[in-house]
Amino acid sequence: MRMYIGSAGIILCLVIGLIAYPNFTKQQTAYDAEQVGLNEIVTIRFSHVVAENTPKGRTALYFKKQVESKSNGKIRVELYPNGMLYNDETEMDALKTNQIQMIAPTYSKISTVVPSWEVLDLPFLFKDEQQVQSILNSAIGKELLSKTKEEGLHGLGFWQNGFKQMISNERSIRHVSDFKGRSMRTMNSNILLQQGMLLGARTNAISFDEVNKKIDEEKIDVQENTLSNIFSKSFYKKEPYITLSNHGILGYGVLMNESFWESLSETNQQVITNAMNEASQWNEKNAQAMNEADLKAMKQYGTTIVTLSEKEKEEWKRTFIPLYDTFKKQHQTDLLQQIQRITK
Ligand code: SIN
Repeated sequence: MRMYIGSAGIILCLVIGLIAYPNFTKQQTAYDAEQVGLNEIVTIRFSHVVAENTPKGRTALYFKKQVESKSNGKIRVELYPNGMLYNDETEMDALKTNQIQMIAPTYSKISTVVPSWEVLDLPFLFKDEQQVQSILNSAIGKELLSKTKEEGLHGLGFWQNGFKQMISNERSIRHVSDFKGRSMRTMNSNILLQQGMLLGARTNAISFDEVNKKIDEEKIDVQENTLSNIFSKSFYKKEPYITLSNHGILGYGVLMNESFWESLSETNQQVITNAMNEASQWNEKNAQAMNEADLKAMKQYGTTIVTLSEKEKEEWKRTFIPLYDTFKKQHQTDLLQQIQRITK
């Protein structure tokens, strides 16, 4: 009898166990909600080369916040500023091989893989920031972005920094003859290297993260950049002569790895597109003001600031005419003519 009660007890426990187990495991799984969510979280590693207190750095932060809040934390954006992960020379390959999923190189740097982007480097092509913005928001901008697809890239949009100015380590630059024989740093771009040569400078393409070191080694006498880049990297402390020339624009193509983009759900693609639109609008409203604030700070520091007169600008423009001819000869595209129809 005792044996019978014992066996019945064991069987009862087993039956209760069998009924209760699935509910128990369900509860365990559902309870650890974070653990479940982890499988669904998408991470975007976004690398760039400038400081966080610049138009690109701050727009990237804005984009991150938008993506993370619009996706309720299901998409994370990890930002790697200041070239801490990849520099100018390595970030494009890292993007193509999906080591990182997003970058925002300058138009100039994109032109090394998608040559038609060279058009945006032509000096004195645009009159003001509004003109740049409206052209890039038009079919011309769409055409440029679509061309990145051939390189396995997904063009999300454009962010602006601003117009480039010239800075020099000794005396202010005003005339073309002021460049003669001096070492000039440019970004890696066909047009910019030719531009330096037409000015009579000894021109070298140097990666942005190397610039301070090369100035210290006395390898850069003159360079062009936006006021925010000159300020955030303290170039003005070593090269304290700033010429406000507004001769060319510096902005960014925001790029994602195309296969990564295709792997995202439609919902996530929409979240990123919306966040990108908002970040671009934020950038459009704030980039110019950031450059102006940096100019004020550099004035207060005691840099020598001169503005090119219209006559001096005409001298520079005449020097740059061959760049336009070369572009037309080298590129089977009417992008330049399309832009000129709007800017003239
Ligand atoms: C940047 O704004 O991303 C860097 C520009 C430069 O290389 O001068």
